[in-house]
Amino acid sequence: MKFLVPFLLLISCSISLSVESQDELSVFSQDDINYVNSVQTSWTAGHTWVSSLKLKEAKGMMIDFQNEESLNIRYVEEDISAEAIPSSFLANATWPSCVTPIQNQGSCSAGYAFASTAVMAERACIVNSRYAGVIYSAQYAMSCSTATTKCSGGSVTSIYNWIQQNGVCLANCQSWTGSTVCNSLCDNGTPLSLFSVKDVFSYQNAASIQNAIMTNGPIASSMTVYQDFTSYTSGIYVYVKGGVVGSQAVKMFGWGTNGNVNYWVCSNSWGTTWGMQGYFLIQFGQCKIEQLGIGAMATARPT
Ligand SMILES: *[C@@H]1O[C@H](CO)[C@@H](O)[C@H](O)[C@H]1NC(C)=O
Repeated sequence: MKFLVPFLLLISCSISLSVESQDELSVFSQDDINYVNSVQTSWTAGHTWVSSLKLKEAKGMMIDFQNEESLNIRYVEEDISAEAIPSSFLANATWPSCVTPIQNQGSCSAGYAFASTAVMAERACIVNSRYAGVIYSAQYAMSCSTATTKCSGGSVTSIYNWIQQNGVCLANCQSWTGSTVCNSLCDNGTPLSLFSVKDVFSYQNAASIQNAIMTNGPIASSMTVYQDFTSYTSGIYVYVKGGVVGSQAVKMFGWGTNGNVNYWVCSNSWGTTWGMQGYFLIQFGQCKIEQLGIGAMATARPT
């Protein structure tokens, strides 16, 4: 017993030390990248600015409360026959003037703000071409929302509920800085013009997401992020290696098939140097990406 106590202490110290030092290491190492590229050919791993972050930094930018709230949302459960869904579809090809550019959230955990504002802009443009080129301010949504924890995370559903009541300004009024201070004026000192969202819809399986995208445009969804995903550079992502880093809201805007593999076409908000110029493909059923897709369309004024 005399010897056992210090021995146990030693073990528990080294366990907590290794968890701490893991957090200090990069999310995905060269060895990890080599491993992913040696065991499969669906996608290619490489160094990205996200995979090179310390694990603890990456955890801090991927906080998305995807399931932690009561949803004040109109559920849409459509009964669609499989024949009605084509084997591939791209919203950017169908409505090219409605595509919003890839953004970069930096170290702020605000994927929810980027995915939600991109979807509301693109869906509004699909219905009414006068919205072409409009980008809503992720900065305003992130820094002014009381329904999220700003750069410490949020969810697409809570930010949509907040925008529905309070509105969001345009990105050319408040551009992205990542500051968590809410500004009540545009960057140039002029008053804010606020825009709201119409009904918020949710979709909880692949077929209803496909039907929603081809009928009304892109949807926002939250996916679980594993360490290997941070190193994605091209191909169809499937989970290979690493633990959960967190979750991230992304925009889903199309799908396709390769052999008998179905994949989603999505955009992220990690800038254009990550993935395929900011885009990625992910196999159906991976990372809970079909668990809760959300679509909403912009309207002129808060309701
Ligand atoms: C749509 O986006 C995908 C994914 O980034 C890209 O491969 C494709 O070329 C785009 N299509 C058009 C018509 O812009």
